[in-house]
Amino acid sequence: MTAPSTPSSTLPATPQPVLRVDRVSAGYGSASRSARVLRDVSLAVAPGRTMGIVGESGSGKSTLAKVLVGELAPLSGQVLLDGADTARLRRRQLRAARRNIQLVPQDPYSSLDPRMTVGRALAEALDPGASLRRADRARITDLLETVALEGDAADRLPHEFSGGQRQRIVIARALAVQPKVLIADEVTSALDSSVQAEILNLLLSLQKQADLAVVFITHDLSIARYMCDEISVLYLGSLVEQGDIGLLRSPSHPYTELLRASVPDPSGAMFDTEPPPVVAADPGDPANPPAGCAFHPRCPQGPRVVEGRSICIGTAPPLLPLAGQSGRAAACHFPLVRAGTPA
Ligand SMILES: Nc1ncnc2c1ncn2[C@@H]1O[C@H](COP(=O)(O)OP(=O)(O)O)[C@@H](O)[C@H]1O
Ligand code: SF4
Ligand SMILES: [Mg+2]
Repeated sequence: MTAPSTPSSTLPATPQPVLRVDRVSAGYGSASRSARVLRDVSLAVAPGRTMGIVGESGSGKSTLAKVLVGELAPLSGQVLLDGADTARLRRRQLRAARRNIQLVPQDPYSSLDPRMTVGRALAEALDPGASLRRADRARITDLLETVALEGDAADRLPHEFSGGQRQRIVIARALAVQPKVLIADEVTSALDSSVQAEILNLLLSLQKQADLAVVFITHDLSIARYMCDEISVLYLGSLVEQGDIGLLRSPSHPYTELLRASVPDPSGAMFDTEPPPVVAADPGDPANPPAGCAFHPRCPQGPRVVEGRSICIGTAPPLLPLAGQSGRAAACHFPLVRAGTPA
């Protein structure tokens, strides 16, 4: 006799990703191979979840953000919003898709028109081409309140605000069209640490209210740890490790481990083990990465030799799921194995 099956309605629902990135490659200039600075990047983000993108400067984080918001067309691969390939949408659907993925950029000042009042900037986001006179003032006041700015902010110009307040304005502008996905690119890197915390907490509470899927880009692992549910680690334009936030505590890829060396952890609360010594080396050019494993010139494990052949230099390691570690994948021929973690 078979056991009665559990009614499906009692099972907790697993949220379906709203954003999927499937093997996206991108670059600048011509479509030639050497111009690629992003290679085969895949990820998925569900409503209410945050995917962190971490990596050093030049690893391709902002290039990925540009592809996600449609500023840069991928050379190959797909960006899918609610299952639809954004490159194949017709004009009206494309406009809706664009509204659904909003960017909060690194530098709010340069993304705001210095001659346009905040009210007009928000009116423009709500209804492109509309005058402030025709704009929905109540909605603008509402948006400003959402990001804890006074209603009279609408009549002022960007230079009249502090850096933190300007970041709030840009967040309000991104939320004006009620997007499903928010891309945040180094949004606090120009701010003092106390203001940073305010903006991060604001983002977390707004995300909760609107069940937003967030792609959170940062080079700062301690901020990533505070904000993210999952992490994708980029090195010279390729993913080297991906999985839940626990990967920052005990990385499987030598590069993630090396990244930790840039984060002070005096109390030892953040990491399980001492980070390794940094191997000083030029990170290189993502458009022309070293052969084999692109990280081999800097790898603290050193390029390994197997049967007289240096597999690290000869063969690029694919991003593969790690046995016994649900959802974790790493691109390394010799992933780090921790005490207590199954090999
Ligand atoms: N507009 C551009 N034209 C040509 N190359 C660019 C442009 N923007 C970025 N790059 C190059 O692409 C690579 C990745 O840059 P970027 O995506 O800005 O990295 P990150 O945001 O991680 O610092 C770098 O080598 C950078 O020089
Ligand atoms: S593949 Fe080799 S060089 Fe690359 S990270 Fe792994 S051990 Fe280091
Ligand atoms: Mg960047």
